Amino acid sequence: MTQDELKTLVGQAALRYVEPHTIVGVGTGSTVNKFIDALAAMKDQITGAVSSSVASTERLQALGIRVFDSNEVDELAVYVDGADEIDPAGCMIKGGGAALTREKIVAAQSGQFICIADESKWVQVLGAFALPVEIIPMASAHLIRQFAFMGGQARLRLKDGVPLVTDNGQHILDVTGLKITKPHGFEAMVSQWPGVVTVGVFAFQKANVCLLGTAQGVKTIKF
Ligand code: 5RP
Repeated sequence: MTQDELKTLVGQAALRYVEPHTIVGVGTGSTVNKFIDALAAMKDQITGAVSSSVASTERLQALGIRVFDSNEVDELAVYVDGADEIDPAGCMIKGGGAALTREKIVAAQSGQFICIADESKWVQVLGAFALPVEIIPMASAHLIRQFAFMGGQARLRLKDGVPLVTDNGQHILDVTGLKITKPHGFEAMVSQWPGVVTVGVFAFQKANVCLLGTAQGVKTIKF
């Protein structure tokens, strides 16, 4: 099976966590796009969605699914999103699609985080994937030095030769060379550095369930 087929498989499998007459939290990325496409088949059974990015909002609306502002909704039963890496405790690296801040917000207001991923995302220790960190632009040089002190190499993410601007008007650093053996401590520490908006380690908002697409089918891992 190709990676794309595995993404389709887990996107469809996530539908079983969606209860009728509820509002669903929806993440961002190519795997979530498969979930959104599958969700369209149930659009008359759900109330709508809270989305974590402009891109997902546009896709949901194009399929006729109503999108609510996160401030209009108290609590979501489930949040479905992908990951760049997920470890055996359900901690993740996210933000490859630059949507990490809104993803963390929607995850925080959700009862259950359902992570959908193909098996290439499964790791023993987080850090092989370059860690995304959303930052305030004026802090970039300082934060690049901060990561260098910890042995990481941080680079400003570019798009078409200029710094990528997130949905929140900020920039992204991608940090390589880190081995994140203590995700909670790492997330707590980097989150309080001045200029950091959101670090792409999801340990406090970790997955409750991972639907992992494998050659043998969808494996359900509960944390
Ligand atoms: C976007 C994310 C995505 O969930 C993550 O990058 C995985 O994306 P994909 O499903 O395209 O591999 O965190 O900010």
